[in-house]
Amino acid sequence: MILSVTDLHVSYGPVRAVRGLDLSVGEGEIVALIGANGVGKTTTVKAIAGLLPFTGSIRYAGADLTPNRAEANVARGLALVPEGRGILKRMTVEENLRMGFYARAKADIAGELEATYARFPILGERRNGMAYQLSGGEQQMLAIARAVHAKPRLLLLDEPSLGLAPKMTERVFRLIGELRKEGMSVLLVEQRARQTLEIADRAYVLENGRVIAEGRAGDIARDPKLAEAFLGGHAGA
Ligand SMILES: Nc1ncnc2c1ncn2[C@@H]1O[C@H](COP(=O)(O)OP(=O)(O)OP(=O)(O)O)[C@@H](O)[C@H]1O
Ligand SMILES: [Mg+2]
Repeated sequence: MILSVTDLHVSYGPVRAVRGLDLSVGEGEIVALIGANGVGKTTTVKAIAGLLPFTGSIRYAGADLTPNRAEANVARGLALVPEGRGILKRMTVEENLRMGFYARAKADIAGELEATYARFPILGERRNGMAYQLSGGEQQMLAIARAVHAKPRLLLLDEPSLGLAPKMTERVFRLIGELRKEGMSVLLVEQRARQTLEIADRAYVLENGRVIAEGRAGDIARDPKLAEAFLGGHAGA
């Protein structure tokens, strides 16, 4: 396992957002974290990324993570693409992409930028334009491309499809599949449960800061109880 989370608890003052959560991600796996609004998905990935205090254990690549050590985690290959993307809108596309290299001791920045532009021609065309001028989907591509520049072993993606049209969502999900082929492991937070379960290997369903179901993605998708509660009644169709 590249990631093992055991008995994770995270609170915001009196609000107990995550209450004893266990999950794991294997090498090269795409693992989905699904559930309704406010169940603790973002809190979980932020704690894993090192952006929040927590209790319990988060083991990544053979070592226990210390709370609030996001920069050290990035240097060890643990990268988060946050909810809302976290790009700097008043900087250029290329400036955003260059930030992705900050934790890398040595990187062929020019070469990797060219590879990114070959993969995402739109980012190449707009490299000197402001990030806010990109469409929502293009901004999501930019955020993921930037995270890839950190050479992550484990990529945490928080609702990458949020606000995207179906075509762009498909493109983003295809990209996640490609990244896994390149050797990345992925923890994917999503509300579009049905589509997510199509690309994920395994899934965890959250409610009230706890895992209420887990298993192979196909089994979760076919579970009639979960279909009603979490998948909008369309599962297994
Ligand atoms: N900074 C904060 N201060 C206080 N409470 C918070 C804070 N951030 C989140 N919460 C609360 O913690 C709980 C979990 O929130 P979280 O953002 O993790 O949910 P989520 O599953 O990501 O939801 P969504 O699908 O809407 O993004 C919610 O009850 C939320 O109101
Ligand atoms: Mg969230």
